[in-house]
Amino acid sequence: MTAPANPDKARRKPLVLGNWKMNGDVATAEQLLADLLQGERDSPEALAGVELGVFPPYPYIGLAAARLAGSRFSWGAQNVAHFGNGAYTGEVSAAMLRDLACTWVLIGHSERRALFAETNAQLAMKVELAIRDGLLPVVCVGESLAEREALMTESVLAAQIDALCGVLASADQRFVIAYEPVWAIGTGLTASPEQAQQVHAYIRSRLAAGKVPGATGVRILYGGSVKPSNAQALFGQPDVDGGLIGGASLIAADFLSICRAAAQRSIR
Ligand code: PGA
Repeated sequence: MTAPANPDKARRKPLVLGNWKMNGDVATAEQLLADLLQGERDSPEALAGVELGVFPPYPYIGLAAARLAGSRFSWGAQNVAHFGNGAYTGEVSAAMLRDLACTWVLIGHSERRALFAETNAQLAMKVELAIRDGLLPVVCVGESLAEREALMTESVLAAQIDALCGVLASADQRFVIAYEPVWAIGTGLTASPEQAQQVHAYIRSRLAAGKVPGATGVRILYGGSVKPSNAQALFGQPDVDGGLIGGASLIAADFLSICRAAAQRSIR
């Protein structure tokens, strides 16, 4: 047996996560969950070797937990409070998410940073609580179009990553990074595979520079207008370990097709 060309990539299990954002209702959530389970039953071998999960809106997490238990699909939340349980009206704690058997929690999605003014200090608290309560944080980073055009991509990412290196360093690799260029989210514009690779490699080096142990083993997902037509080329890049899928995760056939692309990714 020959050794894989890229042993670091080979030991990072591909991961595809669907971020439903604030969409749907009980009926559409039921249907989507049923369609995902049907997809798994139809061709289990096509999904072998990939880790899969969905992020429903808070009110439908319990439903996802009930339907997806025992399947290949895990579930998580799109946000979490930066406080533990207590008098924080309207918030949802990491402990509550763990109680609903969530595996994952998104932290620092660009919509949270931009529309809800989440700060790096709050994000660090969220990561710390998530880890403490047994969740796997999926930390989202990415630059805006103006920042990319001003050649600031690396400095923006450096600031976002450096702010979290302290908490990530003690996480024992129990976290995932999602690179989501803001200009590619929901716009139909996708980073080219080469652009994604360049940034993913940079993120990995920045984690190492920030003294996060085992950076070569950390999974880094790409997000931003991933579709069945571009998934395979993105996932084939040496430092791209899967995807965080928004719009396409609301269409079961598209999401399953992207999941299959991750299962087939070529190890380069
Ligand atoms: P998109 O969203 O796939 O619709 O671009 C990705 C995300 O925001 O997680």
